[in-house]
Amino acid sequence: MKATYDNAAAHKLIGEVGAAPEMLVQILNAFVEKFSYISEEAVRQIAQELNLSRADVHGVVSFYHDHRTEPAGKRLIKICQAESCQAMGSQALTAHAVESLGVGLHETSEDGEVTLEPVYCLGNCACSPAIMIDDRVYGRVDAKRLDDLVAAMRN
Ligand code: FES
Repeated sequence: MKATYDNAAAHKLIGEVGAAPEMLVQILNAFVEKFSYISEEAVRQIAQELNLSRADVHGVVSFYHDHRTEPAGKRLIKICQAESCQAMGSQALTAHAVESLGVGLHETSEDGEVTLEPVYCLGNCACSPAIMIDDRVYGRVDAKRLDDLVAAMRN
């Protein structure tokens, strides 16, 4: 469960990572890790504390796929799109996930249960295609296994 954003917690986090413009990427990563996404309020606060413009912060937010700007669902499913997994069918697996979950990549289901995202290598290439559900990595995932993991996740 991610923390709810508040200015004091955000200020503390910026201080922990390092309140300097060169730490912007690391700060944004830390915000996603702690709060699940980077809100407009967060952009404002980070810009102010690092003495940057909001456009500067937005530029970096939009550059990285992982810098989510909407809250994540309760469960996060990432499907690897990198070379080894692609060679082993991750695109078909992704198409199956989109169809069966009813969400596109970078989207969260309407009930707020699941967010589906691409990821570019999970370090599990020997067991491609690989996926991650929350913090756990699974290898050699086909459509049936994905359905089973999703069913288990929902129980
Ligand atoms: S390419 Fe998918 S885990 Fe490395």
